[in-house]
Amino acid sequence: MSPPRYGNVLQMIGNTPLMAVRRLDTGPCELFLKLENQNPGGSIKDRVGLYLIEAAEKRGLLKPGSTLIEATAGNTGLGLALVAAQKGYRLLLVIPDKMSQEKIFHLKAMGADVQMTRSDVSKGHPEYYRDVAERLAGEIPDSYFVNQFGNPANAQAHEETTAPEIWAQMQERLDAVVCGAGTGGTLAGLTHYFARTAPAVELILSDPAGSGLAHYATTGKLPAKTSPWLVEGIGGDSVPPVADFSGVSGTYSIADAEAFRTCRELLAREGIIAGTSTGTLLAAALRYCRAQTRPKRVVSFVCDSGNKYLSKVYNDYWMLDQGFLEREHRGDLRDLIARPHAEHAAVTVNSTETVMAAYRRMKLYDVSQVPVMQDGRIVGIVDEEDILLEVVGNPAHFNEPVTRAMASHLVTVRVDAPVAQLMEIFKRGMVAIVMHGSEFQGLITRIDLLNWLRRRL
Ligand SMILES: Cc1ncc(COP(=O)(O)O)c(C=O)c1O
Repeated sequence: MSPPRYGNVLQMIGNTPLMAVRRLDTGPCELFLKLENQNPGGSIKDRVGLYLIEAAEKRGLLKPGSTLIEATAGNTGLGLALVAAQKGYRLLLVIPDKMSQEKIFHLKAMGADVQMTRSDVSKGHPEYYRDVAERLAGEIPDSYFVNQFGNPANAQAHEETTAPEIWAQMQERLDAVVCGAGTGGTLAGLTHYFARTAPAVELILSDPAGSGLAHYATTGKLPAKTSPWLVEGIGGDSVPPVADFSGVSGTYSIADAEAFRTCRELLAREGIIAGTSTGTLLAAALRYCRAQTRPKRVVSFVCDSGNKYLSKVYNDYWMLDQGFLEREHRGDLRDLIARPHAEHAAVTVNSTETVMAAYRRMKLYDVSQVPVMQDGRIVGIVDEEDILLEVVGNPAHFNEPVTRAMASHLVTVRVDAPVAQLMEIFKRGMVAIVMHGSEFQGLITRIDLLNWLRRRL
């Protein structure tokens, strides 16, 4: 069969491939992943974007140039932006102000208008993002509040496309599907379809530890308390109207650490770069598979691409900082160094390089100072202020050797020095240069100390 040819990008939504997991331990079971990351907008939410907009069109709620309004910085925003641009609608997204710059750049580049609102307030507050979106829809003429959390077209997308695709791809031999719930649209769609078509198929909910939805699915009540989790796109502390937990036959609560490690394992072993929620789903799917006593055929999802999470789950420094990766424990100040020189991880500049090179490296790695090295030894340190003082009267000094701008009087600490000594250095506005004998080990900044203290909580 030749590869398909498409007439436009919207035709590429859905019909995603199913891939067998071969190099992870699935016990007696066969496990398959539905690669929703292969949708043109990069996630399972492209299907929802298309359905939400086409449902409104069918109801006669949209005219050319109408404004769609939604409250999300997530994948639904991207799915809606993709479809809205193709169909000639404006899209206004209301976004809490904690969202990453990358997500906002991506949405704007797709043509969406983005309005930021406070992320530190919850439902009922006038600046809560979902309430702002709903209010704007009342104020802006010819606009439509999409409302994925309450819109039945969300679940319908999965009932009419995701679920039947899985059933056909598994040749109607399927024992269980493991999925997550954010809006609950995926789960509701699967529930409706399989209740009708193959009621023996088990639906397993994988929920981030801290979220209240697994508890709700088993008891019908939300827990008294929820706590934050880092996985994005799934979990919640309230039950969305579109969700349907009636078909859930088992639940797993997966801690962030396990989810993040599973994501990395998926990439290393199976070659798929997935987003963090996939780690939650896959961790539960693997636990389910290994717990079976007879072979079963199981499906789970790669919900979105991991390219959006490179600086988190695929970044060793971030993983170490969160305590999700372990490094050798030394019991001295080396445990506080984020980028050890011995691992070639410290950001440095050579004494033969220019002020410009130091400035560029600081920008690239988002650090405020770099050690200056000569023949493997540290001979100075240069920070933003040193560079500013050098170039403020004469920008041509960017091309001078970095040794002109650096401070060469180095205040160092030994690896066995007490933490209190770091505080003295920080109070003088400096960073700690950690030495073991004459060997440079790395830098410790205020944020490194804060991170280390937090990890010890
Ligand atoms: C990133 C991401 N967004 C959204 C969803 C789907 O959630 P829902 O259909 O419940 O909104 C998933 C599903 O696992 C997901 O991984």
